[in-house]
Amino acid sequence: MTVIEQIIKDHQHMTRLLDFLDQEVSRYRDDNEYAPRINLILEALDYLHHYPDAFHHPIESRLMVRLRPRLERQNDRIQFDLIENQHQQITAMTQKLNAAFSSVAKDQVVPINLLLSEYVLYSELQREHMELENQYMIPAMQALLSEDDLAQVQDDLKQMADPLFGAHLWEMYENLYQHIAESELMPDVI
Ligand SMILES: [Fe+2]
Ligand SMILES: [Fe+2]
Repeated sequence: MTVIEQIIKDHQHMTRLLDFLDQEVSRYRDDNEYAPRINLILEALDYLHHYPDAFHHPIESRLMVRLRPRLERQNDRIQFDLIENQHQQITAMTQKLNAAFSSVAKDQVVPINLLLSEYVLYSELQREHMELENQYMIPAMQALLSEDDLAQVQDDLKQMADPLFGAHLWEMYENLYQHIAESELMPDVI
């Protein structure tokens, strides 16, 4: 699999995870009859911190640095800046949400409505970000990355396989993976 194919696949996987996380977080809403499962939320945020934030976005950033001088359209450069900006925002927000939900898990007083609205912003930002990348970054990668560019990042790919959706599921994410798969089989439960 090339790095471009991996990035496209990661986006599909992240969408699955966000769909699941949206459902789980919505259990904190007053009108939701299901009990929140804080461990699943923390596991999902932990994964977002350890794979997309630590690996997926940094690889994209490195590839965009290579591509930037080859872009011909001003608009593409503007979109790249925006994408880069979102990488920083997303990473910061993952950490912030992780800290807030950890406090919830420890029974500390957390304003839940504020947390819910912050989560909605986060989920929307992640989705907008992927759309922007699919629209501007992926086509630029497909058109402008050389074999040599791809070879240079190929080694990094081997080092960091996706621990949740990759070929080898890590034990720490087994529970999360099972619940994602179940929720996809029964989308009407929530
Ligand atoms: Fe990204
Ligand atoms: Fe991405």
